[in-house]
Amino acid sequence: MTEGVAFRDIVKRYGDTVAVNGVSFTVEAGSLVTLLGPSGCGKTTILRMLAGLENVTSGTISIAGRNVTTLSASERDVSMVFQSYALFPHMNVLENVCYGLRRSGITKAPAAERAREALRQVGLDGYDRRQPSELSGGQQQRVAVARALVLRPQVLLFDEPLSNLDARLRRQMREEIRDLQQRLGLTAVYVTHDQQEALAVSDRIIVMSRGRIEQDGLPRDLYERPATSFVANFMGESSQARATVKRLDGERIVVRLGDAAFTVDDSRAADGETTVAIRPETVAIQRGPASDGALAGTITKAAYVGTHMEYTIDTAAGALFAVCPRVDRPLAPGEAVALTLAPRGIIVVA
Ligand SMILES: Nc1ncnc2c1ncn2[C@@H]1O[C@H](COP(=O)(O)OP(=O)(O)OP(=O)(O)O)[C@@H](O)[C@H]1O
Ligand SMILES: [Mg+2]
Repeated sequence: MTEGVAFRDIVKRYGDTVAVNGVSFTVEAGSLVTLLGPSGCGKTTILRMLAGLENVTSGTISIAGRNVTTLSASERDVSMVFQSYALFPHMNVLENVCYGLRRSGITKAPAAERAREALRQVGLDGYDRRQPSELSGGQQQRVAVARALVLRPQVLLFDEPLSNLDARLRRQMREEIRDLQQRLGLTAVYVTHDQQEALAVSDRIIVMSRGRIEQDGLPRDLYERPATSFVANFMGESSQARATVKRLDGERIVVRLGDAAFTVDDSRAADGETTVAIRPETVAIQRGPASDGALAGTITKAAYVGTHMEYTIDTAAGALFAVCPRVDRPLAPGEAVALTLAPRGIIVVA
């Protein structure tokens, strides 16, 4: 692996507040790593330290193998796309994108040429002379991306770049950012608190809580094999159920919920009573009473939400939330059902 960015034992204190509490991670060159976590967990602070806009209290930061811990922002080859876009309101689009190049001493004509190329890459051909106030939120966001891209930085940072956009535009822009990042082979650190956005754009995800890393891994592993209940809850919906775990062999366990038993791949869980998280889309529901190995339940709530049905189901292991793509002949509260759980949807958490 070629190292793009490395954080080693980074601590950041503001007076008594510990914003970042011993964080270490690496970002492979040419990959996109997302920092995901709730408000106040230290995401922006990490980006600002990486960009050189904030000093570390202790620890070291390196970029492409060079220790940059004490270098100023201008001595690092990093650009940041801010949540607020931070465009210069009195400059037109082209001037906004040229600004960094002109400051680094590039003359007007070549700077304009590179800026036009960056604007083309974000799909803003022909918007050179517009003022930021004459652009939609999504277009302003693209200008902010172009302004960061044009500097061809070693590392590109995104701080919640899509949070001001509506849902449809958010999906389109996240696809475009991911596409550009892969096409240009950029090393990127992306911050969001939206787990779906994180799953969609990332090579790796780092889930944070209170200034610490909870788990660092591949998107699919974080969703399907979260290491802690915090990660399980943060990475998507789940219900808590009471269960008994018994190890079959080194790799597999039997999870017993009420009268039902399911075999699950898991090399970590210990034998005994525990709480498991159940992903709602992995619960298969059948009408009628349960037999052989299925979990018996009674529908208590049913809601039609267009693309699927949402059900709450009372069971001996607790109330389970389930989603079902079949919207014809929906189940009604009071109906008896038999539930089968997909092994990947049963998560034993620490
Ligand atoms: N300049 C500062 N002075 C004092 N405390 C600060 C400062 N900047 C951040 N903090 C504190 O550090 C912690 C982490 O803040 P940070 O901005 O990194 O969170 P975040 O994960 O980006 O949150 P959000 O999702 O709300 O943007 C918070 O408790 C915050 O109040
Ligand atoms: Mg922030």
